[in-house]
Amino acid sequence: MAGTDIGLDKTLAALGVTEAAQIGARFEQVFASFDGQLQAIHDESAWKLFRDAWLGRKSGVLTQITDNWLKPATPELKRVVGQKLNELRAHVESQIEARRAAIESGAEEAALAKERVDLSLPGVIRPIGSHHLIRRVFQEIEDIFVSIGFSVVEGPEIETPYYNFEALNIPEFHPVRDDMDTFYIELPKGAPTPLLLRTHTSPMQIRTMEKQKPPVRVIVPGKVYRRDNPDATHSFMFHQVEGLAVDTDITFCDFTGTIEYFVKQFFGPSVKTRFRPSYFPFTEPSVEFDVSCPFCGGTGASNGATCSKCKGAAWIELFGAGMVDPAVYGFVNYDAKKVSGFAFGIGIDRLAMLKYGIDDIQVFFQNDVRFLKQFP
Ligand code: DAH
Repeated sequence: MAGTDIGLDKTLAALGVTEAAQIGARFEQVFASFDGQLQAIHDESAWKLFRDAWLGRKSGVLTQITDNWLKPATPELKRVVGQKLNELRAHVESQIEARRAAIESGAEEAALAKERVDLSLPGVIRPIGSHHLIRRVFQEIEDIFVSIGFSVVEGPEIETPYYNFEALNIPEFHPVRDDMDTFYIELPKGAPTPLLLRTHTSPMQIRTMEKQKPPVRVIVPGKVYRRDNPDATHSFMFHQVEGLAVDTDITFCDFTGTIEYFVKQFFGPSVKTRFRPSYFPFTEPSVEFDVSCPFCGGTGASNGATCSKCKGAAWIELFGAGMVDPAVYGFVNYDAKKVSGFAFGIGIDRLAMLKYGIDDIQVFFQNDVRFLKQFP
């Protein structure tokens, strides 16, 4: 400690102090040294060292002053030194005690502050996600069909060729399989049947009819897979909603009326629908539904220019549908003479792109939050 530079190891005589008047200045130095050192004492371990340095019996500063300054002093000086030493002792003891109390309560406060929960602080706020646009469009379509008596069923994404093709009246040699030449699963030798990722949701028509007798009114949302190269309108995985209604007296009118109702609910009441002949192995007759372009009001032009959405055609192709081919009933033991019905297969990604003005199907699958955030 600061003992040597203020002469604690020497007698007053050796320091040249011969008169009482000089003693005050000596003690001033000791007081100043003590007060200076005290400023730096902030924790318990430093405080203990400091206390021993000043009050320690063997070599504390007060002991040194007693031994080196007081005891050898001449009787005239001794009285003044003794008085100053008492003042110093009182100061040192009270200051050291005060510092101890401060450190203790400070430590307690710090410990308390660490544990204290501040209820006024904002909590951890995790950003709330939103439904993916595809999910949202699924929901819109489900709501519309559920409101008119359809129920929602789901089925396996890994299918047998029987459900994906044969039972839908697509025999092995049929050329439409070329379009669906798709993902087969590698199976161990001797597996009972090949398996593939379903190319459409239509297999669920068969699975549903196998399980239940007419009347049937279901829609089937789900993922489907094809060997398509990705571009702005193609993806090897996309989404469909299949629909199937079978009962004893469903007519072509029920069919087109239902579709028209759906399209108006989905795009708004001012759109018109039309259908054109088409071909699917599992429907007869088969049609393709179009909607009058919702963006140019079905005129083919907007703001004096050709409508960019329908390319001036005034109509936009929506999805395939038809009356269920009687051959299909044969696969599920329905009596084709007693029942009739219709089916449809809606491409969700395409519909979502149309309705929400998205021009690249790939953005659905890139999970870029800048895109996702636009549809909260
Ligand atoms: N399964 C067809 C496809 O993916 C879509 C389809 C067309 C489904 C007509 C149907 C339908 O149920 O009747 O290309």
